[in-house]
Amino acid sequence: MRSSNFKMAARLLRLSTSVNSSFLRSSSILRRESVAKEIKRVNYLHTTGALGGGGNQLFVHRHTADNNPDTPFEFTPETLKRIEGIVAIYPEGHKAAAVIPVLDLAQRQHGWLPISAMNKVAELLDMAPMRVYEVATFYTMFNRSPVGKYHVLICTTTPCMLCGSDNILETITNKLGIKVGETTPDGLFTLNEVECLGACVNAPMLQINDDYYEDLKPNDIVEILDDLKAGRTPRPGPRSGRFSCEPHGGLTSLTEPPYGPEFGVRSDL
Ligand code: FES
Repeated sequence: MRSSNFKMAARLLRLSTSVNSSFLRSSSILRRESVAKEIKRVNYLHTTGALGGGGNQLFVHRHTADNNPDTPFEFTPETLKRIEGIVAIYPEGHKAAAVIPVLDLAQRQHGWLPISAMNKVAELLDMAPMRVYEVATFYTMFNRSPVGKYHVLICTTTPCMLCGSDNILETITNKLGIKVGETTPDGLFTLNEVECLGACVNAPMLQINDDYYEDLKPNDIVEILDDLKAGRTPRPGPRSGRFSCEPHGGLTSLTEPPYGPEFGVRSDL
């Protein structure tokens, strides 16, 4: 179904355009029904992340044996020192602004965020626990359940989808034998689908732990997963050979060395 996204989008566009004009001529109920049907079908294409609550985790929390307010969690002295440094950046009375970096430190220390860790963050930053839960459930970077050693977050938002993220996703699911939201039996890989990761110019792309892999073709992701499985560190960044997000055909502007600080300044000054 995913490979037909292009056709589906084009069809939807044609139908929308045609409905607009036919609406002006004589509102055709039949045509509008067709569009509604198409919209419904397109909406079904990319709902795995949304249905799962972003990052495929439920928005709600249910106490379990290993995730409840009594789940052991304490910040280490090293982490507490880093938190102190982060909180000191913010003005007096604005400790809550540090919630994202502090949640991130909690997750890096524990591997994921049990509710007890979120409560500890709330306590440290003098926040209502609910405010911390709101942040942790909104951002897909926070894992409220355990993930594998390599957390694969594939972007399937429009620019990535138009550049072939469906094929990349399909390659990953075939290669790892897991679906979105699942972890491989060896605990190595967890796969999740996320919204735009801000690297659209290098689409299609995905994030694995802290690294971005961009300009992907299906064989690139096979190579990346093989490397990780073998304990090697694949080279992050664009796989197309370009540097960062420069144009594919080389630079088209800013090609000369910078003029320097005195450029354009009067010589007698
Ligand atoms: S749409 Fe994929 S990174 Fe923006």
